[in-house]
Amino acid sequence: MHSSQRDLILVTGATGYIGRALVARLLTESQATRVLVRPARGNDIAELWPGQAPHVCIGDVTETASLRAACAGVDTILHLASHSPRKRAPGIDPSAGHWPVTAEGTRALVGEAQRAGVRRFVLVSSVWVMGEGSADGLDESSIPAPTSAYGRAKLAAEEAVRCASDLQSSIVRLPSVYGIGGESLVSQMISAIERGWFPPPPKTLNKRSMIHLDDVVAAVLLLARRPEALGKTYIATDGKLYTTHEIYQNVCAALGRRVPHWAPPVAWLRLAATAGDWLTRCSGRPVPFDSLALEKLVGSAWYRGERMVRDLGFTPRHTLCTALPGMVAFQRESRRGA
Ligand SMILES: NC(=O)c1ccc[n+]([C@@H]2O[C@H](COP(=O)([O-])OP(=O)(O)OC[C@H]3O[C@@H](n4cnc5c(N)ncnc54)[C@H](OP(=O)(O)O)[C@@H]3O)[C@@H](O)[C@H]2O)c1
Repeated sequence: MHSSQRDLILVTGATGYIGRALVARLLTESQATRVLVRPARGNDIAELWPGQAPHVCIGDVTETASLRAACAGVDTILHLASHSPRKRAPGIDPSAGHWPVTAEGTRALVGEAQRAGVRRFVLVSSVWVMGEGSADGLDESSIPAPTSAYGRAKLAAEEAVRCASDLQSSIVRLPSVYGIGGESLVSQMISAIERGWFPPPPKTLNKRSMIHLDDVVAAVLLLARRPEALGKTYIATDGKLYTTHEIYQNVCAALGRRVPHWAPPVAWLRLAATAGDWLTRCSGRPVPFDSLALEKLVGSAWYRGERMVRDLGFTPRHTLCTALPGMVAFQRESRRGA
């Protein structure tokens, strides 16, 4: 892909965890890049991509007028913007933004992309459209059965993209993403274990799929560039399966800590999670441990990424084991600099 104006790429969600890395890669390749950035982040650009500023278009996927300017003259859209509430705050429904931003916002962006004559559209979606907690290794042929507001909104976003017959589109569904920076589940686990707040998880045989940030960037670009990907939906993973206990052991190893010999039995955790649910219901305030947190700890989330490997030759370059030492060093360094 050459960096001509016709090849202009618009990235939405550019200020997010994945978007920042994706835009950095595009800029390194001297790719003409425009980013859709919400007004509150407009001043962060120089800090996000020092010395290599992309073209900035201030806007919001919920404001259709702003999308018209963003899509003008664009060849390819890499659509990452999605509602992602950071923390569960008391009295605020964290799921309220999923439909207007993730579903309706994608629909609006697709409409403006068609109007502007955009050629390619890549949607970054989530394995959650297929349902959470899969222990059976779901793949792209599995019937979507989302069980959360996020998953339902992502599925609606996918449908909006697939229905746009005059766009050459591809969709990639991601499991949990790990890597340097951001607030991934693994980074949170690193911080919690280092502070002594994370007890060893029980030795369950759950299976969790994940993918490294750099491999996500590679996967998105592969979809944008390969004709074989047109009209297709793929799952991208790092090709490994992890039990929560293995993740915990690997984090401890990267931190240079011994893995404790004891672990609370699952039954105790279930009791604690039920108490957490009850406390949340009574007080209206989120608690650190509830059924949702328990599911993330002991549940499975196994998704198969073989199709992308087979069709597109996608080769994930990282695993959690190879990535953890760098993630730990980065988090320690960031804490020292803070
Ligand atoms: N990270 C993962 O583990 C993971 C797993 C599966 C799928 N995904 C998908 O991958 C994509 C990127 O994820 P991420 O982790 O990078 O997300 P993130 O860090 O939460 O970033 C979300 C991005 O969306 C932008 N955004 C939110 N509401 C918007 C709106 N109304 N208009 C325009 N932009 C808006 C945010 O802008 P502000 O900076 O202004 O808030 C931010 O740039 C998302 O679609 C997500 O669903 C991520």
